[in-house]
Amino acid sequence: MHRPITVDDLRSGGRLARLGSRCLLFPQIDSTNGYLLSRSAELEDGTIAFAELQTAGRGRLGRRWLAPRGSSILLSVLLRERRDSPLVARDTGAPLASLAAAVAACEAIESCCRCSPMLRWPNDVVVGGRKLGGVLAESTPLGSHGDMRALVIGIGINCLQHAGHFDASLAESATSLEIECSHAVDRAALTGALVVRLDERLASSQVACDALQAWRQRCDDVGRGVTLDHDGHRYTGTVVEIDDHGDLVVELLNGGRRCFASATTARSW
Ligand code: BTN
Repeated sequence: MHRPITVDDLRSGGRLARLGSRCLLFPQIDSTNGYLLSRSAELEDGTIAFAELQTAGRGRLGRRWLAPRGSSILLSVLLRERRDSPLVARDTGAPLASLAAAVAACEAIESCCRCSPMLRWPNDVVVGGRKLGGVLAESTPLGSHGDMRALVIGIGINCLQHAGHFDASLAESATSLEIECSHAVDRAALTGALVVRLDERLASSQVACDALQAWRQRCDDVGRGVTLDHDGHRYTGTVVEIDDHGDLVVELLNGGRRCFASATTARSW
């Protein structure tokens, strides 16, 4: 039996610069991202929300994020950012914030588990080619002046699931730390480590540049084939690079080069 995560677990990784001004724990909620977004006007910068179960967990592009009660890390943080901050630049999907959070997730996993996750554009944390976790960043205007935005960054990490816990459609593509690691997974320790790494990555004054550099080092997409759905069309080609905005640059099979933004692009597994 695994115990629920506590506020002490969230703070157990060490000193925090920005995150943890308030820590909210939910035995059950619709979505931690949804909760923070809908209350962003009254909640403080740095608020963390953690859930044991989400009844309407959100994934990218309107997909669902499913996890049995107590099996996972289901955590979101709220940041109040100026509209011109690199973290909320470009679109509501905040691509650079997503990349920074995905890097933090890899670093936390590596520090607690004998396992080295990689990144798969745009925000998948993968082990052995299977998805272990993902990031969903969402943002909305704050107040009436429009110069501030609420940025909510949500992270899901599959910790304790066994193969049978995954939906049949994910049987080939999803995994968990329990499946991948040869030792017992300490979900509480990993949660503390994740909060610290996220705090470090998001507090960095060079956040955009640092996150991109670290992200590229952990991504082996370059040179590989990829199939993407964008704007009602399917594109196939070879990944050339992840550019400075976090977009995927692809050499298309039928000629030409094209950039794809994560907010509007679905990738076939
Ligand atoms: C994806 O890979 O599609 C992103 C998954 C993000 C899931 C997390 S779980 C915590 C937070 N709350 C949500 O509703 N979604 C994110």
